[in-house]
Amino acid sequence: MPTLAELEREAVQCTRCPLSEGRTQVVFGVGNPSADLMFVGEGPGREEDLQGEPFVGRSGKLLDTLMRQEMGIDRTQCYVANVVLCRPPGNRDPLPAEIDACRPFLETRLELVDPYVVVTLGNFATRTLLDTTEGIRKLRGRAYPFRSGQLVPTYHPAAALRGGAEVVAEMRADFVRAKRLLAERVS
Ligand code: URA
Repeated sequence: MPTLAELEREAVQCTRCPLSEGRTQVVFGVGNPSADLMFVGEGPGREEDLQGEPFVGRSGKLLDTLMRQEMGIDRTQCYVANVVLCRPPGNRDPLPAEIDACRPFLETRLELVDPYVVVTLGNFATRTLLDTTEGIRKLRGRAYPFRSGQLVPTYHPAAALRGGAEVVAEMRADFVRAKRLLAERVS
């Protein structure tokens, strides 16, 4: 098993799929490498591709706000990653072959960080990790056994920015669910 730093060195040279051709840089992940909590998004957007960090655009601002307000944490107290490491052109959805090519990087990071709770942000991350084709509306609202811990599916923050107060309220409830699961585990 590589270390996280070794895995990142491998990732920045990756050419396993065509997304590598259009990237400015690989967006590997950020935060505490042994966090109990990991967020998994879809893939880098324009800002993330330029800055090399996940969730630094508008979606990221909402993610940071919800982390702080509902869980009392910032991104140094969790780990934040995406299903794909490179920006899909024009922010299109990642293709199944791209998700498959990147999947070993995601699986190995899950092994290395070994979080107790994984919060999946949106359809892509949730479907990828729960291995389902069901939509996020149906899947959210509960936790699922995942690896040796739990998975809490929620909306992608971009969907919440589009969907308004009701979607944000549901996301808040999902973040509280994740916080409770973490608290129950240590108590
Ligand atoms: N959307 C994502 O899914 N991930 C990011 O890093 C940014 C936006």
